[in-house]
Amino acid sequence: MQIHKLYTKDDLASFGLTGALPAHVGIIMDGNGRWAKKRLMPRSFGHRAGIESLHNIVRECIKLDLKALTVYAFSTENWKRPQQEVNTLFSLFIEFIVKEIDELDANRVRIITLGDLAAFPDRVRICMENASERTKNNTGLTFCLCLNYGGRAEILRAVRNIAASGADPASIDEKLFSDNLYTAGLPELDLVIRTAGEQRLSNFLLWQAAYAEFVFTDTLWPDYKPENLRANIIEFMKRTRRFGKVVE
Ligand code: FPP
Repeated sequence: MQIHKLYTKDDLASFGLTGALPAHVGIIMDGNGRWAKKRLMPRSFGHRAGIESLHNIVRECIKLDLKALTVYAFSTENWKRPQQEVNTLFSLFIEFIVKEIDELDANRVRIITLGDLAAFPDRVRICMENASERTKNNTGLTFCLCLNYGGRAEILRAVRNIAASGADPASIDEKLFSDNLYTAGLPELDLVIRTAGEQRLSNFLLWQAAYAEFVFTDTLWPDYKPENLRANIIEFMKRTRRFGKVVE
C-alpha cells in the first residue's frame, strides 16, 4: 500500500512544469487493439497492457496533485464489440479495481463512475459501486471512470432530470445543467488527451469539453508513460486560453 509523495516545486521545475497545471484532465485511451496487433497478439493482450498504463498514469496524476482525471474506459458504443472482447474488458475493470483499491484509497483518491452502470453485469456494477462507496470521502484526486458513458446520453439524462424536476424553463441555466451531469461538482475540464493518432472526441465529455484544450498524440495507449503525460501538459501550458475574450 504505497503512499506516493507529491512532486515538489523543484521536481516540477525539473520537468519544465512551471506554470499552472490543469485541474482536470480527460484521456481517451485509444490504441490497445493496434498495439496488440503489432505484436500479433489478441486485442485482450492490448487491453491488459492498457491497464498497466492506467496504473502508471493515475499515480502520476496523484504525484502532480491534479484535482481530477477522467478516463474513457467503456463507451455506449463499445457494446458493439465482439462479446468476448466486452467480457475481457469487464474482467479487467474488476481486476484493476481489486488490485488498485487499497493503494488508491491510501492515497486519498476518490473513485467515481460516469455512465449508466445498470447495463453491466452485477459483478462489474457492484465492484464499481463498492469502490465509489469506499472512497467517497477522500479528498485527493478524483478518478472518474467513464463506463457505459456517452456524452449525448449524459446530456439527454440531464434534460430528462431537469424536466422531471418541473423546473421553470426560464430558470434553466448552465449551472443547473452542469449540476445534472455526472461531472457535477468537478473542476472544469481543462485538457483532453487522445492517444493513438485519432483526432476526434467520440462522444467523450461533450458539454464539459467546451473550453478544453485538445492534445492528440500518436502514442498508443499501452506505450503512454508518465513522461508522455508531462509532455502533453507542457503543451497545454504553452497555449493561451482565451475563453472567448481578447487576451493582449
Ligand atoms: C481503446 O482501444 C480502448 C478501449 C475501448 C478500452 C479502454 C480500456 C482499458 C485501457 C483497459 C482497462 C480500463 C480500466 C478502466 C481498468 P481500442 O481497442 O479501440 O484500440 P484500437 O483503436 O487500436 O483498436
